Amino acid sequence: MPTISILGSGNGTNAQALIDAIESETLPATIGCIISDVKDAPILQRAQRHHLPAYHVDCAPSPHALRDTAEATVLDRLAQHQTDYVILAGFMRIIKANLLATYPHRIINIHPSLLPAFPGLDAGRQAFEARVSQTGCTVHYVDAGIDTGKIILQQPVTIDPTDTLETLMQKIHAAEHQAYPAALRKIFPQS
Ligand code: GAR
Repeated sequence: MPTISILGSGNGTNAQALIDAIESETLPATIGCIISDVKDAPILQRAQRHHLPAYHVDCAPSPHALRDTAEATVLDRLAQHQTDYVILAGFMRIIKANLLATYPHRIINIHPSLLPAFPGLDAGRQAFEARVSQTGCTVHYVDAGIDTGKIILQQPVTIDPTDTLETLMQKIHAAEHQAYPAALRKIFPQS
């Protein structure tokens, strides 16, 4: 059974969906650790509630990058917990070369749009403001580009004329919570 470690910066609802899927034995995996670049992020509190190893990794002063010392700390933690797959769940920093080289085709991300449409930040808002009738979420492998890696699974979400940005984001999140475990089931070896 593969060991996954999860990196996130925020609320951690996708991490929660993965924890729930593992605990209910609908996703054949174990969790190594949960890492956040944000000290008080709810994702770390969720980890603690489930008695999972949780670490804050200080990335200051860089706003977007995982600077070298922080990357080295992340690599140490991942190795310490025998990580097979690195799962990005709302991790708002760019993954650098060392991490990519250490986990080739084993770093996975979820993005709140139907890639290649609306890459980058605030993808839900981008889709809402573009007035498209359909958006969704994408689970994909991470490569050196921004949201460009090979797609594993996509789940569409309809944008209704009555949707606000808030209701749309709720629908995207609900789709993500289904899509992430489903995508990992697709790629993990079946025992
Ligand atoms: C999710 O919607 C995820 O797709 C997005 O951040 C949110 C995290 O929510 N990720 C990105 O935009 C990455 N570019 P969560 O912390 O509740 O899982």
